Amino acid sequence: MDRSPAPLPPVGLGTMGIEEPEPIATALEVGYRHLDTARIYGNEGVVGEGLAASDVERADVTVATKLWIDALAGDDVGPTARESAERLGVDRIDLLYVHRPRGAYDPATTLPALDSLVDAGVVGAVGVSNFEIDDLERAREVLDAPITAHQTELHPLYHRPELLEHAREHGYPVVAYSPLAGGKVRAVEEVVEIAERHGTTPEAVAIAWAVAKDPVVTIPKASSERHLRANLAAADLALGPDEVAAIDAIEREEELYPE
Ligand SMILES: NC(=O)c1ccc[n+]([C@@H]2O[C@H](COP(=O)([O-])OP(=O)(O)OC[C@H]3O[C@@H](n4cnc5c(N)ncnc54)[C@H](OP(=O)(O)O)[C@@H]3O)[C@@H](O)[C@H]2O)c1
Repeated sequence: MDRSPAPLPPVGLGTMGIEEPEPIATALEVGYRHLDTARIYGNEGVVGEGLAASDVERADVTVATKLWIDALAGDDVGPTARESAERLGVDRIDLLYVHRPRGAYDPATTLPALDSLVDAGVVGAVGVSNFEIDDLERAREVLDAPITAHQTELHPLYHRPELLEHAREHGYPVVAYSPLAGGKVRAVEEVVEIAERHGTTPEAVAIAWAVAKDPVVTIPKASSERHLRANLAAADLALGPDEVAAIDAIEREEELYPE
């Protein structure tokens, strides 16, 4: 079985809080090819409707969802993943994440259950989210399938270089979530200054800064067509090394999703 993951584009769509199919369909129309949802967001059905409404080839889109911490016991993984696939209206979840290594998560049973889903073709690839280095190491030991992505919080007010280092060393991408710090980047002085210099927005600078890092792709959430287009285009904004370093050096730390 081919377990090689499709490469993720630099900018995908975060869908947390999207409760109508329209922004999903619009996103696909304007060029998004990676949709990120989760069981806990309660919108897998909406994402599925948006996908079904679009003319984009299903095979060209990476559909990612996540198993919440109450569904990670070995026996629950299969049935819960199949429910997600059904809500999404897909035969195969391209990328299925462990949302957090908490609750019912037990690497010895959760991860083999994920491997079985890959073998059965219900899941294309396995991802993890909100893992620490020791969680990543344990997962690498237990999983048959490679870790295909680590989804972790990354924005100008919170980033973890050691997680990027681990990803580089082991050859999987980091999917940066909340790249706009949930909207707070527009008030971060260093980011605003750089945006003014480039005649663009702080949101575009935050996205460009994230994807300038190796091996990072990102999934800003946006609802309006204007934001959807602007975020996709932001991947082409080239920041200078000094600008990247200035954002790296911001000391004000704000983790939006701590334990
Ligand atoms: N794995 C995890 O534990 C985890 C945790 C949190 C989030 N995530 C994922 O990451 C995704 C993104 O994170 P997030 O939703 O927390 O926040 P975010 O992407 O950092 O920020 C989204 C906010 O920024 C606004 N926005 C988007 N584009 C903009 C632009 N160009 N100009 C001005 N404002 C803009 C959005 O408004 P509009 O909607 O009005 O456009 C929304 O209010 C989530 O949707 C989810 O898929 C994963």
